[in-house]
Amino acid sequence: MSKSSIEVLHETDLAALIELEMACFDHPWSEKQLSTYLVGERYLCFGLWQATRLQGFALLSTVLDEAELLQIGVHPDYRGQGGATELLRYVHAQLDDQGINRCLLEVRSSNAAALRLYRRLAYQEDGIRKGYYPTASGSEDAILMSCNKFKSALDG
Ligand SMILES: CC(C)(COP(=O)(O)OP(=O)(O)OC[C@H]1O[C@@H](n2cnc3c(N)ncnc32)[C@H](O)[C@@H]1OP(=O)(O)O)[C@@H](O)C(=O)NCCC(=O)NCCS
Repeated sequence: MSKSSIEVLHETDLAALIELEMACFDHPWSEKQLSTYLVGERYLCFGLWQATRLQGFALLSTVLDEAELLQIGVHPDYRGQGGATELLRYVHAQLDDQGINRCLLEVRSSNAAALRLYRRLAYQEDGIRKGYYPTASGSEDAILMSCNKFKSALDG
C-alpha cells in the first residue's frame, strides 16, 4: 500500500474536500464556505492523502499567535487508524513553525472520538457552553478546549 502524506490543500482540491466533508459531517459546510477557507489568507487547510485519495483534513483559522481548529475529519472508511492523530500532530508542528503557540476549539460533548483525540494531544478543557449545539431532541453542550503544549503533544 502507498504511504500516506499530509499536504496543504489548495483551490484545486475543492471537489475532493467537498466529497470528504459530506462523508464526515451530518450538516456539511457548503461549497462556498469551503472555497472561502481554501483561498483565505488567515486560514490553514491540510489534507491527509493516501495516493490520490483524500482521507482526512484539518481546517484552521489564525489570528496573530493563536489558531482555532474549525474542523477536522477523517473519512468513515479510514477511522480508528490514527489518521486524525497524525494530522493534528502535523498541524501542531506547522503552527509551532509559524510562531503560533495556542490552538482553541469547540467540540460537542457527545463526540467521544474527537474528545479522545484532543485529550491525547494535550488539549485542556477551558469551559462549557451550555446547550450550544442543536440536536434532534433539543441541544447539547459545547466543550471549549485549548492546547499550548505543541512540543509535548508532538512527543506523546
Ligand atoms: C474525530 C475523528 C476526526 C477521529 O478520526 P480518527 O482518524 O478515527 O482518529 P484516530 O484514529 O487518530 O484516533 C484518535 C483517538 O480517538 C479514539 N477513537 C477513534 N474512534 C473512536 C470512537 N468511535 N469512539 C471513541 N474513541 C474513538 C482513538 O482510540 C484514539 O484515542 P487513543 O489514541 O487514546 O486510543 C473522526 O472520528 C471523524 O472524522 N469524525 C467525524 C467528524 C468530527 O466529529 N470531527 C470533530 C469535530 S470538527
